[in-house]
Amino acid sequence: MTEAMDQSVTPATRASSDVIFTPLKFNNLEVKNRIFRSSVSGRFDNEDGSLTQTRINWECKFAKGGVGAIISSYVPVLMEGRIIAGYATIHRDDFIPYWQKLGEAVRSFDCKFIMQLSHSGRQMDIPGVHNYVRPTLSSTSKKETLHGFLCRAMTIEEIHYTIDAFAKGAWRAREAGLDGVELHAANGYLFTQFLSSGINDRTDDYGGSLANRARFLLDVISAIRAKVGSKFHLQCRAVGEERQHTR
Ligand SMILES: Cc1cc2nc3c(=O)[nH]c(=O)nc-3n(C[C@H](O)[C@H](O)[C@H](O)COP(=O)(O)O)c2cc1C
Repeated sequence: MTEAMDQSVTPATRASSDVIFTPLKFNNLEVKNRIFRSSVSGRFDNEDGSLTQTRINWECKFAKGGVGAIISSYVPVLMEGRIIAGYATIHRDDFIPYWQKLGEAVRSFDCKFIMQLSHSGRQMDIPGVHNYVRPTLSSTSKKETLHGFLCRAMTIEEIHYTIDAFAKGAWRAREAGLDGVELHAANGYLFTQFLSSGINDRTDDYGGSLANRARFLLDVISAIRAKVGSKFHLQCRAVGEERQHTR
């Protein structure tokens, strides 16, 4: 008998057996289904980077709706890595309890929460008082092309400081009981500014060949592993092609 003839196979039973509703296993994380909420930022949070109940309510809407995991919106690891104010950050130890509260709320719906660790570099997306008054750091001293924000190529010390900030961010996410972290190495932000041959014009160990341009990202991964060990879920969002950030 074909499936079409079998009256017991309804659209509902067929849907519930679809692979998208089966668990997805990573080395250090299991998600109940294959539906992930992708990163979409909203300006819900306080000026100092502490998160608000509005963010918790927002994330819980997705968790309640049945998604298996939420990849958070852009979470800066340093205040100078913000795109604009109003995004929750992970740059302070005393923010851990806020993230813990969010993680517990989402988990009550059997949903996992992965924090997207981020740094803007020179690309801050939105003009405004927060972004015109501060210098921005990047792989390059060439200005950002959309808004014309001026920037300066990071020194080696500043690169090391930023690598450490990512490792601390991952450690805080783990302390908060979250399920993993994602490195935001896409969409033109700091990692992209190192990876891109169209942006990165350094002549030191962090520029030139692909291996050198990837060094910043790989150093961050090593620093995170040194800080949190090998048992914490770590993923990376990378861009496959770039068009708009290289002029
Ligand atoms: C308002 C808005 C905010 C976004 N915020 C983030 C973000 O914080 N992190 C990220 O990686 N991508 C972010 N994105 C990109 C989305 O995750 C997604 O890649 C993009 O919307 C393209 O997918 P789509 O064609 O399904 O919309 C954002 C997109 C929008 C429209």
